[in-house]
Amino acid sequence: MDTPRNLIGQSLDDLDTPCLTLNLTACDKNLRTMSDAFAGKACKLRPHFKNHKCVTLARKQLAAGNCVGITCAKLGEAEVLAQAGGFDDLLIANQVVGPAKMARLVEAARKTRLTVAVDHPCHVDEIDAAATTAGVVIDLLVEVDIGMGRCGVQPGEPALDLARRIVGRRGVRFRGLQAYEGHAVYTDDPAMRRDNVTRSMNLAIQTRRLIEQTGIPVEVVSGGSSSTYPTTGSLDGVNEIQSGTYATMDWRYQQLAPRFDLALTVLTTVISTPAAGRAVLDVGVKGIGAEFGNPRVLHEPEAEIPSFRSEEHTVVRNVPAWRIGRKVHLVPSHACTTCNLYRQFIVHQDGRVVDVWPIEGSGRLA
Ligand SMILES: Cc1ncc(COP(=O)(O)O)c(C=O)c1O
Repeated sequence: MDTPRNLIGQSLDDLDTPCLTLNLTACDKNLRTMSDAFAGKACKLRPHFKNHKCVTLARKQLAAGNCVGITCAKLGEAEVLAQAGGFDDLLIANQVVGPAKMARLVEAARKTRLTVAVDHPCHVDEIDAAATTAGVVIDLLVEVDIGMGRCGVQPGEPALDLARRIVGRRGVRFRGLQAYEGHAVYTDDPAMRRDNVTRSMNLAIQTRRLIEQTGIPVEVVSGGSSSTYPTTGSLDGVNEIQSGTYATMDWRYQQLAPRFDLALTVLTTVISTPAAGRAVLDVGVKGIGAEFGNPRVLHEPEAEIPSFRSEEHTVVRNVPAWRIGRKVHLVPSHACTTCNLYRQFIVHQDGRVVDVWPIEGSGRLA
């Protein structure tokens, strides 16, 4: 088994596969492009850790600038960053529930500033009680459902009611609103996406104004994604954008945000060429996220992956010259579930390994 140290300098052609590879030039360009979009703007970035779950990459996102902190999907992700150190403002853009989680939440809150989404008084009561007992303060965002139909109270009065229940507590503090326009993220037509985003985010902005009119300060309205940020990030009243996939990209997301490059691939090996024009690769559904479609072969538009169902095989057609042992880069349709399957990124430039970054949050689902 290769250790990370002796991988550095190796040619990608010599790597054991399947492994998760990250093109450093492409990734750096993506971080720069996203950061530049927020230069001089009131709205800032809060990159979403769920995309890659890698501490090194999260540090690079902050270092690229124009960031206010990091977004996490789960408490386990926040624990990874709090433990690593150097992350002083973490948002868990999700509900955290139950005594086991409360014990962990207050421990994480001892290490760094934590903000958590809530959409029911029982969330407020539970977090307030745990934080008060532990002697910490946890910030809360009231999650508003602006059309996605996932979590969240309705905009307007229901959100104001929940904000009122937070104000004046000892263990929790009302910080603002969580409003993710996830139902608009995959709208392919840019004009339709823009309209949908504007309509949806305006519900959050109107809710902000309503709460402010009652004298309750709203520090933050947080939402947005790698495909909606140009619109969401320019609306007056939205403070932070939770883009995630821009760092690594995948082929589905590149259709929505072509200004970002495909940095992430799963490097595979041809293990069989059983018939003319057909090759079989050494990865299947266990090694690559495919929620948005089959993977695609990088820089080989002719190559076809007609079905993608085997656990450990990918059949590729229309590849006349491929030989056994050849290395092939597969681009996933979904980067986030792919990264969650691996323990490290093999970082490369010009065909050689330049670094190995642990994916500390891999498999942290709780
Ligand atoms: C709460 C939340 N915010 C933001 C995002 C946007 O992330 P991305 O840029 O990867 O679409 C997501 C995606 O799932 C999300 O769930």
